[in-house]
Amino acid sequence: MAQKFRALLDLCRRRGFLYQSAEIYGGLRGAYDYGPLGVELKKNILNSWWRRHVYYRDDVVGLDTSIITPHPVLKASGHVDEFTDLLVDCNLTKERFRPDKAPEIKLDKHGNIPIIAPDKTTALEWKEILEKQIIPNVKMSVEGNRILIYAKEVNLPDADGQNGSITFEMWNEQPSVQLAYHGYVEPNTNSPFLTDSRPFNLMFKTFLDPIDPIERVIQTTLDNAEQSKATIRQTVDDQLKPSTVFLRPETAQGVFVNFEQIVRTMKKTPPFGIAQVGKSFRNEIRLEHGIFRTPEFEQMELEYFVSPWEATHYFEYWRKERYNWWLEHACHPENFRQRDHTSKEMAHYATGCTDVEYLFPWGWGEIEGVAHRGGYDLAQHIKNTGANFEITDANPSLSERVQKAGNGNVDLIPTEKPAKYIPNVIESSCGLNRAMLAYLCDAFHEVDEGNGKPPRTVLRLDPRLAPIKCAVMPLVGKPELNSLSEKVAKTLRRKGWYTVVESQKLKIGKRYYRHDEIGTPWCVTVDYQSLEDDTVTIRDRDTGNQERVHWKEVNHVIDGKLMKGEADNLLV
Ligand code: GAP
Repeated sequence: MAQKFRALLDLCRRRGFLYQSAEIYGGLRGAYDYGPLGVELKKNILNSWWRRHVYYRDDVVGLDTSIITPHPVLKASGHVDEFTDLLVDCNLTKERFRPDKAPEIKLDKHGNIPIIAPDKTTALEWKEILEKQIIPNVKMSVEGNRILIYAKEVNLPDADGQNGSITFEMWNEQPSVQLAYHGYVEPNTNSPFLTDSRPFNLMFKTFLDPIDPIERVIQTTLDNAEQSKATIRQTVDDQLKPSTVFLRPETAQGVFVNFEQIVRTMKKTPPFGIAQVGKSFRNEIRLEHGIFRTPEFEQMELEYFVSPWEATHYFEYWRKERYNWWLEHACHPENFRQRDHTSKEMAHYATGCTDVEYLFPWGWGEIEGVAHRGGYDLAQHIKNTGANFEITDANPSLSERVQKAGNGNVDLIPTEKPAKYIPNVIESSCGLNRAMLAYLCDAFHEVDEGNGKPPRTVLRLDPRLAPIKCAVMPLVGKPELNSLSEKVAKTLRRKGWYTVVESQKLKIGKRYYRHDEIGTPWCVTVDYQSLEDDTVTIRDRDTGNQERVHWKEVNHVIDGKLMKGEADNLLV
């Protein structure tokens, strides 16, 4: 599986989907640039999402808000105080990791703890650090890149991660030493020599200020040199606060703070939604699996505002709607699933959350969260600004509204219609980069032609998502076919489809295979017969079947094929 994922990443690099950012300078960990094909794939996923949630409905409008977000907005939303992950450092390897994702300790058959170093030299270095700094006199041995630590007893912690311990054996009958064990070890090495966990805010902080804030930090520190570290920190924070801004960690807050503007200018009343697509930023402790977890990523978020008594209904509605969207573009729907959050996992604002997950080569991973945010966000912004976010429900009677919502399980139906209420929010929050990665994994197929050659790759992307829709191919070495090829390409380009003309000196079969590898659903071949009767062939990526049509028909035929997927889904 890992090999297949490496092959996919290699394809992405070779064929212009993804590049390491600033590669000529050695690259930046976790930062990626999207090449010509990556841009198209990402844009096509986004367009499908936007079409479905904005253009095909009359109850959702779009918005594009600022990435730079003032401190008070994110203080009110709870992100300044609560948007944290726990962080642990390994005293031995110096790795930093999230304990909630870390594995339990592994013991060998004698109950001892193997620590796996990258190589023999590192194992010897770590042995010395253990002996001199971490746990002097602990009984251990080194075999190749493995350090074996002798453990007398390992007590597992309780459900809260407390009261676990490891008792170590010592040389020369010295009294054994006990260390706390919270149920996890450093993921790469199985090392249990860890710091306590501490919360770590994930937001990128910066300063909107013409004066270098570092100067103010230095001056404040010098002025308070006699004070304790905590006091200096507080004074520095107070100094910087007026110019502190954050790169937004989710696009949603931009939607909430504009709620009243949209209601007023677009004449909307619940139920209605606001859609936004844009970049978000998180100082992630662990960057992993290519574009799966990066500090800079794009989100497609829909905040759907409803009355409190319709919230459960719409939570169910959006869970289904969003899951169906994922399945509609999938080759292997069995690799997508929904998973409800436990109360421990839930974000600080949510009263219910269901993730959509994809079975990546390393296991199930979240690609979207559908959350019932209740009235939390709007209420917080009302509390902090006095904003007028309440809805006065003047229109249809409650029972009509309930019927309109088309459900029998409306919760919290008040017996008296309230004059005013704060809308609840049902949110669908989907990572665009993760969507791209999931669909690439889903589409990646290795086909063995049975000819003794290594298998070739076919990306079976949904044609609506495929970066290049059509490759037009005149037969090799026949310049008289070029003009018709260009004409066909022009009609396809005018439809807004990314179309290329492939006239390299490669056999037609090889050119087909090169396009199969990047997911091009249709290749149009211009041959001798084309000059006689104006027909060309359209070859299908997945079946290899070819149909011959008049060249002027190509765009209609392809339009029909693309719209078929779209129309089928609309009937659902
Ligand atoms: N507004 C709600 C919200 O942001 P979230 O579960 O934290 O919820 C939503 O994020 C989605 O954003 C995730 O399901 C994932 O697809 C994407 N996402 C979150 N952090 C990411 C990261 N560091 N890199 C790439 N995608 C990320």
